[in-house]
Amino acid sequence: MNKNNVYIETYGCQMNFADSELVMGILKNKGFEVTRNIDEANVILLNTCSVRDNAEQKIFHRLDHLKRIKRENPQAVIGILGCMAERLRKRLIEEKKIVDVVVGPDEYRRLPEYIDHAFGGEKGIGVKLSRTETYDDIIPYREDGISAWISVMRGCDKFCTFCVVPFTRGRERSRSLDSIVNEVKSLSERNFKEVTLLGQNVNSYNDNGRDFADLLSACADAAPEMRIRFTTSHPQDLSDKLLYAIAEHDNICNYIHLPVQSGSNRILELMNRTYTIEHYLNLIEKARKIIPGVSFSTDIIAGFPTETEEDHRMTLEVMKEVKYDGAYMFKYSPREGTKAYSMTDDVPEEIKIRRLNEIIDLQQQISYEINQSLIGKEEVVLVEGVSKKSDEFLSGRTDTNKVAVFPKSDDIKVGDYVKIEITRATSATLFGASPVPVEVD
Ligand code: 5AD
Ligand code: SF4
Repeated sequence: MNKNNVYIETYGCQMNFADSELVMGILKNKGFEVTRNIDEANVILLNTCSVRDNAEQKIFHRLDHLKRIKRENPQAVIGILGCMAERLRKRLIEEKKIVDVVVGPDEYRRLPEYIDHAFGGEKGIGVKLSRTETYDDIIPYREDGISAWISVMRGCDKFCTFCVVPFTRGRERSRSLDSIVNEVKSLSERNFKEVTLLGQNVNSYNDNGRDFADLLSACADAAPEMRIRFTTSHPQDLSDKLLYAIAEHDNICNYIHLPVQSGSNRILELMNRTYTIEHYLNLIEKARKIIPGVSFSTDIIAGFPTETEEDHRMTLEVMKEVKYDGAYMFKYSPREGTKAYSMTDDVPEEIKIRRLNEIIDLQQQISYEINQSLIGKEEVVLVEGVSKKSDEFLSGRTDTNKVAVFPKSDDIKVGDYVKIEITRATSATLFGASPVPVEVD
């Protein structure tokens, strides 16, 4: 076994997946090799998430399982990266004896050093946050494929009162526009067909006065045959200029992830979301005028402290009004160190669960209705691979991020754009027929 084989598991948001590629880039530069087989690895890294308690519990269970690895290979180095590393720091090493290395999101450059020390028996913790680190010069390690992520900024300055991210990922800072555009170009040369620009709040991107709309347009122009996506947008910072940039570029997807969190102004204020629901709904209306056919997804939290039935009903109302194409829906989870942590978590568990289920049921119904209305229409799909359920079918996504499945055909391959006619739909999937390749650029 190569002493320097590294295996990495990633949990949580897309930023973490992008960070894992960055970490692999850093390690490969220092002579480490990436393996997909944990039993072949001498370095096992978990890139972790702290956003909700259940995300952390999952990692603790995983660590219990990894004891087997340490028994079979006492040389193995086990490292915790990401938000849990930043949040729990030395507690992780003290409480979980199998952990050798704890490295937070702004210290990945020093990870090879920590691993080397751990091989020598010395445990290490690197959790300093930085105001400037963007890893701008690091080329992430990516396997060939269709879709890639690029993180365009790090950290968050919004301080929503429920959220641990500003504490685990530090202050907001943007990468340079030129390096991002160069990365898009090199992905295009490697035949990637889709790139998602990532940040906790991409709308506050700023590289010496060049804003997110400038960045998005520059990426779209640099690779006209690629689809450009982005996430996440904060409703306070979404500018008209950005909406026009989306409208003016065919290859910027007509899809905006715009977390609303709650439909009640009182709760939004307690959350420090800095917008009202009226502002939010106006924004949706404006976006729909400027970008015909634009679709929206959102994040919703059920059971924030003091949430009443009336507040909850307002959330359901907003969902009905906007008709989101999709939603990520969560039960409020108190996070130590956040402002909301000191507000009493006074919504009983069973009420949180009931409200969350009502939100999920409503969203399913809305998604079903939207998808049904597409039957008989044509959609352009980027082919991503064989359908999970049957290898007679291919699967891909529409511009508006919906999964579409359609019959295989000899003239269609992964990475192609095809036009299909929608014949059937569930709340989660469109089914199409008669795929025809289309040229895009
Ligand atoms: N409890 C529940 N959901 C949360 N989110 C962030 N923090 C919490 C929390 N403490 C959700 C928000 C955010 C998404 C990424 O995770 O909806 O938009
Ligand atoms: Fe957390 Fe709010 Fe920042 Fe999103 S915008 S990462 S929810 S603090």
